[in-house]
Amino acid sequence: MEASRRRMAVVMPLLPLLFLAFATVSADRFTVGDSKGWNPGVNYTEWEKKHSPFHVGDWLVFYYQSGMADVVQVDEAAYNKCDASNPISNYSKGRSYAFELNHTKRYYFICSYGYCFGGMKLSIKAEPLPPPSPPPSHKPSAAPSLVPRSAAAVTLAISAALLQLL
Ligand SMILES: *[C@@H]1O[C@H](CO)[C@@H](O)[C@H](O)[C@H]1NC(C)=O
Ligand SMILES: *[C@@H]1O[C@H](CO)[C@@H](O)[C@H](O)[C@H]1NC(C)=O
Ligand SMILES: *[C@@H]1O[C@H](CO)[C@@H](O)[C@H](O)[C@H]1NC(C)=O
Repeated sequence: MEASRRRMAVVMPLLPLLFLAFATVSADRFTVGDSKGWNPGVNYTEWEKKHSPFHVGDWLVFYYQSGMADVVQVDEAAYNKCDASNPISNYSKGRSYAFELNHTKRYYFICSYGYCFGGMKLSIKAEPLPPPSPPPSHKPSAAPSLVPRSAAAVTLAISAALLQLL
């Protein structure tokens, strides 16, 4: 018991650090269409405007009615034509689909059930990771934006290792 209390004394002060690491590392998770989900009659251009910017590592979660809709990732030309015949990926199982924005680029999603023509289509740009805090000056910075994230990951790993001592 004594030893465990001593460990607590070591670990407790580190908890805020742990929290900070989580806050820095965690990606955002967006429910496409918010409470309206992935359904006909929602303007996803407006939804995208409301929630942008999106960043690499963020997740899009599509909630749809099983058998009534699907999520088809296409290229720009197919997006403009609502053409699901040559998809990059497609998903229609269950009632939800979580998609991770893995790359810095623009993504296009449509529904192949005909609702795309009414606006059930989403175009979204994944921006590079944001810097952890606003730059203090206009000094040009050559540091890649991945550095803060990996630093936080290291902090996280250390904190996790410390917590195992408990
Ligand atoms: C989705 O993928 C499956 C399997 O690859 C294919 O059979 C189906 O036609 C595709 N659906 C659409 C809408 O692209
Ligand atoms: C994103 O990357 C992860 C890890 O490499 C991979 O498991 C996942 O399938 C990727 N997601 C997409 C949508 O490509
Ligand atoms: C969605 O809203 C935008 C502007 O907010 C408008 O330009 C566009 O036509 C709308 N799309 C549909 C399908 O109504």
